[in-house]
Amino acid sequence: MKCTVCRGPAVIDLRRHNANFCGDHFLKFCRDQVAKAIIQHDMIAAGHRVLVAVSGGKDSLALWDLLVELGYEAHGRYIGLGIGGYSKASTAASVAFAESRGLPLRLIDLRGEYGYDIPTAAAVTRRVPCSSCGMSKRHLIDSAARDGGFDVVATGHNLDDEAAVLLGNVLHWHTGYLGRQAPVLPERDGFPRKVKPLVRLSERETAAYCVIRGIDYIVDECPMAEGNRHLRYKEALNTIEATSPGTKHAFYFEFLDKAADRFRPEAAVAQDSLRPCTVCGSPTSAEVCAFCRLVDRVSDVEPVPVELLRAGRGRGQSTRKVSR
Ligand code: AMP
Ligand code: FES
Ligand code: ZN
Ligand code: ZN
Repeated sequence: MKCTVCRGPAVIDLRRHNANFCGDHFLKFCRDQVAKAIIQHDMIAAGHRVLVAVSGGKDSLALWDLLVELGYEAHGRYIGLGIGGYSKASTAASVAFAESRGLPLRLIDLRGEYGYDIPTAAAVTRRVPCSSCGMSKRHLIDSAARDGGFDVVATGHNLDDEAAVLLGNVLHWHTGYLGRQAPVLPERDGFPRKVKPLVRLSERETAAYCVIRGIDYIVDECPMAEGNRHLRYKEALNTIEATSPGTKHAFYFEFLDKAADRFRPEAAVAQDSLRPCTVCGSPTSAEVCAFCRLVDRVSDVEPVPVELLRAGRGRGQSTRKVSR
């Protein structure tokens, strides 16, 4: 297998691009894809300060590295979710990467700063962990961007993530979500601009990027996400992609080109009018925002270990408030 560009030995084949690349040309390919996504979707302007939401996984670490390589000022923010060994390993990977590059990373620990963790929140609210997890991450990253004067928040969502979300939204005809599914969400009413510069790269490509760049990322997926729908949609798309390379890319980008605008009116209807949360000042449609309500409900409750929750015994167990 030879590199399509230099005819040297190739290290990766990209069937959907009908190309093979050596290490150097693959890294250039990744930089070019990210630069193209940023320009085509008008994601980040010159001089913008970027806050990267860092999870310690391959996508967000590759994203941070790529943005710095492309010349952007990019700071990292990591949220410690308190999901047992998984969170410990992701913190370590994030810190090690930032230190190795001399990049600014701030850590926010849910238990240390807000008195709860995700397994406990899931047990108390009796909802899937991803709901309090996603909400906490969004709230804290948005506030960090506002407080730190960042122009834009970047997350590591890749082509596989976006195509799987699109498939889920189409299968259930969630028209409001379809109207908002874009690689850029503009700044509005106190929410920062949000961008997904990895939308032109697949999971396999961000993993290969990390390996070639010597970035140590946490390989394990979150133990609480096991069996969720999103993972099943990814598998379904991978099955199709295996016999028809390029399908995932076409599904997502043709949707953006040809269909997304048709759903915008429904997305606009779904947006309530916003005012500042009376506790924290973040924009919300209620008097107190969902994050502050969650903190009030779950903080200082006796911690529920992730192992107990995974065994299905955590939800519904007595959850007593304890004094800190
Ligand atoms: P996920 O929802 O786990 O697929 O993650 C999607 C993106 O959210 C990642 O690529 C990161 O940019 C961001 N993210 C996930 N987990 C964290 C975390 N613990 N702290 C900060 N950002 C995160
Ligand atoms: Fe949020 Fe797993 S990372 S529940
Ligand atoms: Zn080459
Ligand atoms: Zn609030």
